[in-house]
Amino acid sequence: MNVSLPYPTEAAHWEDESHLPGHEEIFVASATGSWLTTADGRRLLDAASGHSCVNLGYANAELIEAAAQSYRTLAYCSPEHRNRPVTELAATLNALLGGGYRIRYGATGGGANELAVEIARRYWRHRGLPAKRKILALDRAYHGSTGAASFASGPGILQSPHVDRSAEFLHIAGARDTGAGTSRDLATLRQGIEAQIAAAGADTIAAIIVEPVAFAGGVIVPPRGFLAMVAELARAHGILLIVDEVITGFGRSGRWFGFQHEESVRPDIVTMGKGITSAYFPLSATAVSTAIYETFLTPGNAMNKVITMAGHPVGCDMALTVIAIMQRDGLVERVRSNERAQLSRLLTLHGLPHLREVRGLGHMWGLEFDAAEQAVEVAARCLAADVLVLRADNLIRINPPLTATDDEIGLLVDTLTAAVRGACAA
Ligand SMILES: Cc1ncc(COP(=O)(O)O)c(C=O)c1O
Repeated sequence: MNVSLPYPTEAAHWEDESHLPGHEEIFVASATGSWLTTADGRRLLDAASGHSCVNLGYANAELIEAAAQSYRTLAYCSPEHRNRPVTELAATLNALLGGGYRIRYGATGGGANELAVEIARRYWRHRGLPAKRKILALDRAYHGSTGAASFASGPGILQSPHVDRSAEFLHIAGARDTGAGTSRDLATLRQGIEAQIAAAGADTIAAIIVEPVAFAGGVIVPPRGFLAMVAELARAHGILLIVDEVITGFGRSGRWFGFQHEESVRPDIVTMGKGITSAYFPLSATAVSTAIYETFLTPGNAMNKVITMAGHPVGCDMALTVIAIMQRDGLVERVRSNERAQLSRLLTLHGLPHLREVRGLGHMWGLEFDAAEQAVEVAARCLAADVLVLRADNLIRINPPLTATDDEIGLLVDTLTAAVRGACAA
């Protein structure tokens, strides 16, 4: 449909700097499956699933049909009323999490984390401990770009140095210093958290927020037992554990949720977004344990918060369809087999000059180089071969759709391998 305007049009969209090598601009005209088509007709394999969210690929006919049906049935519903998709999705998410949670919706991953922080602080206020407000987070975490979610994000991770920060958010060293190229083991990580708790005082800390794998921060896969260790320390010190599953949720790590790699871990709060609808609708969710939820049921403590678009019935229907497709097609298992059969081939690159480390889990893989220069070169070589990978600083990250075919995953691994060999030999 053409819009007719009274004045000549001028460029008006706020353009951000491109992260592509050489800052090429890509104008995407359409997309199908794992492939983008640019305005000039080029086809690019999208190894980033959009922004780590198009889990089921583009132009998925079942999702489009489910959306159309849902719009015809109930195009919107006030958050003050009940409706089938919101209640059914809440019950489904709770079951996937292992039970014992209540779900509150939002529209963005950052919003889900902001809500988690607010709930954690209000929970302690309900319990007569209003001083428990501080939030511990990891130095290379990314939790979103709005309010509390941006404060929780590590300084400098996908952020300008000019954004506001808050003294109530304290950052602890995570499993990898991607600048220095050094890793921290479980004992060192534990000492870091204990030292921060001791310095701030557990009576001032509301929660600790962690990602099972810090994807934006450099695909930092913590040592096995990390989440269980954080959960144990949190419980011992009366601190809530918030697990941010905005990227790792919905199969990307090879489990429904990343925290489920460690059987004993039961987070107090779990946040989700992105792949929940495979990006076909902006929807997020914050799951809170029933014990926390119940404190909001006591007189005077009701949440009393409305977000007009949160829990949109069409978004919830899309999420239900995504989950049903994932179950029917065994996509979580498929991620695990892709990891074993194809993506782990990237590990054979270890030892090349300038390539410091290859690491990953499920569909999330990262390559860390000595300098940004090599990462830029690798991304450029991939792009020249029509494969779009993510590059930031000295890191390359990939995160292909869960529905990518064997051939597409093979093409991605082969292209990346050739690009790294070329760039590291140069
Ligand atoms: C782990 C994590 N949490 C939260 C967010 C923020 O999600 P959104 O961009 O939908 O606000 C992101 C986005 O990349 C993320 O990776």
